[in-house]
Amino acid sequence: VVPFTIVCGECDQCRRGNFSVCERSNRNKDVADKLFGHTTAGLYGYTHLTGGYAGGQAEYVRVPYADVGPVVIPDGMTDEQVLFLGDILPTGWQAAAQCDIQPTDTVAVWGAGPVGQFAIRSAVMMGAEQVICIDNVPERLSMARAGGAITINFDEESVLERLKELTRGKGPEKCIDSVGMEAHAARSIDSMYDRAKQALMLESDRPHVLREMIYVCRPAGIISIPGVYGGLIDKIPFGAAMNKGLTFRMGQTHVNRWTDDLLKRIQEGQIDPSFVITHSVSLEQGPEMYKTFRDKHDGCIKVVLKP
Ligand SMILES: NC(=O)c1ccc[n+]([C@@H]2O[C@H](COP(=O)([O-])OP(=O)(O)OC[C@H]3O[C@@H](n4cnc5c(N)ncnc54)[C@H](O)[C@@H]3O)[C@@H](O)[C@H]2O)c1
Repeated sequence: VVPFTIVCGECDQCRRGNFSVCERSNRNKDVADKLFGHTTAGLYGYTHLTGGYAGGQAEYVRVPYADVGPVVIPDGMTDEQVLFLGDILPTGWQAAAQCDIQPTDTVAVWGAGPVGQFAIRSAVMMGAEQVICIDNVPERLSMARAGGAITINFDEESVLERLKELTRGKGPEKCIDSVGMEAHAARSIDSMYDRAKQALMLESDRPHVLREMIYVCRPAGIISIPGVYGGLIDKIPFGAAMNKGLTFRMGQTHVNRWTDDLLKRIQEGQIDPSFVITHSVSLEQGPEMYKTFRDKHDGCIKVVLKP
């Protein structure tokens, strides 16, 4: 399995296990240094800021540092069991691990896409008292319930009121953003503001979920952000975050930090990541399936392409 992060294994960051900020694998390091202050790792199928490497759904892929990053899979395991080790499984796991989950914690997970689904199951495995999932896509919410979460449909209920209700008025201690920069929020003023600013090219991302999390998170809580943000965001209630003493933990996933442990858990039957697959098709059906996935038709949550 080839992780989406390209890692050299030898730089200071790799040696510390901070693989997603490998200092050597981004061939466009200079551009990233300029924009972000420092480079991050090279990533497949991502932006030119992370090296402009082609994605992993091509017929052939060149794998830099092929003797370092790829995870060797023991015989006897199916592709479906181990495929997600390269990205979304460790991403959901890291999102939960960053929360330092305690047995009395309520963990709220925004977004019931594949990353949210793995964050939910990881939070349950890590012993959270209660896991709550927020989304508006019925089949995703039902998969979240199957994974042990209580669900909130943000089209039908007030997220803030329901979260307060479920936590005796206190708010969740731990909040996970598995949505990122393309959050939807039809009826909120802040999302109209983001839309307008995006249209004028004055803001790159729509951080509605981030604002909601900062507002509802219990003081001294943790905000964990696997959801991707790309550039500049506006009207973040940083005064609330600072005065409530919130901790922010985020990042691209340090995939290789988690893979040995997760592979072992899959082998032992503690986790079966294949539950997230709703469609399995040939490579030729790829373009059509991209549309189905984009439009969330046919209950589509995760597609596996078989060449
Ligand atoms: N950190 C990493 O290394 C890493 C790795 C993989 C993916 N990601 C990122 O994680 C995020 C989720 O990935 P995914 O594959 O699950 O995406 P996805 O698009 O399938 O899922 C996102 C979900 O968020 C829901 N959503 C939208 N607005 C919402 C709102 N206001 N409140 C609650 N839910 C809302 C959508 O309905 C959707 O189900 C993306 O930003 C992706 O880029 C990060």
